[in-house]
Amino acid sequence: MLLNVESGFHRFSGWYNPAKYHFAGCTLLPGQQKTGDIVKKLKHLFENNVQWANEISEKSPNFFGDLSKQQHPEILWIGCADSRVPANQIVNLPPGEVFVHRNIANVVVHSDLNCLSVIQYAVEVLKVKHIIVCGHYGCGGVKASMEDEDHGLIDNWLCHIKDVRRFNNSELEGLNESERFDRMCELNVIEQVANVRNTSIVRNAWKAGAELSVHGWIYNINNGILQDLDVCVTGLEG
Ligand code: CO
Repeated sequence: MLLNVESGFHRFSGWYNPAKYHFAGCTLLPGQQKTGDIVKKLKHLFENNVQWANEISEKSPNFFGDLSKQQHPEILWIGCADSRVPANQIVNLPPGEVFVHRNIANVVVHSDLNCLSVIQYAVEVLKVKHIIVCGHYGCGGVKASMEDEDHGLIDNWLCHIKDVRRFNNSELEGLNESERFDRMCELNVIEQVANVRNTSIVRNAWKAGAELSVHGWIYNINNGILQDLDVCVTGLEG
């Protein structure tokens, strides 16, 4: 049975009833608002959600029921946190098809337990067949890494991209500013593909004979088009 927008919203507002759940007997902190007030401001998101869920259920009545039992994505997507590069939408895939990790400038750091845990779960439990590192032109993280200004804490993260610039300095030196920015976005993807390939998780999967490819793609935020950077690796020798 489908939800209508109002009943759907009321169902969710029930979850967020402050008296019943979150704030019973609690004192609000300075600046803290009751959850119910915040939900009212974001009501349109719950309305969108019910409409979206209904549209899917109308087309495929068992969609959510089947998906709730288990997930079988074949793709792990490692992308930038940028709001203009939403993984599922740009490859037009529904829920359940893509396991996703996103961070500033799609960086894969050898000691990042967050990213490594995602890769481990995707490879060892979900047994994905493809890991896609997807960067994008116009990436703010890449741009910030190319500047000398102080950006605060994030500069520690951006150091990983500064390394990419250092590794490729001879190629980048000959380019103008705009070309250098575009190429840095591409080189950052290529470097992160190498980092994925070098993880113990991926190497062990290959040693065990897993069918697993690591791809480097870049997305153009100006026209919505993806491009394969043709740096795919499929094994220890690939
Ligand atoms: Co970005």
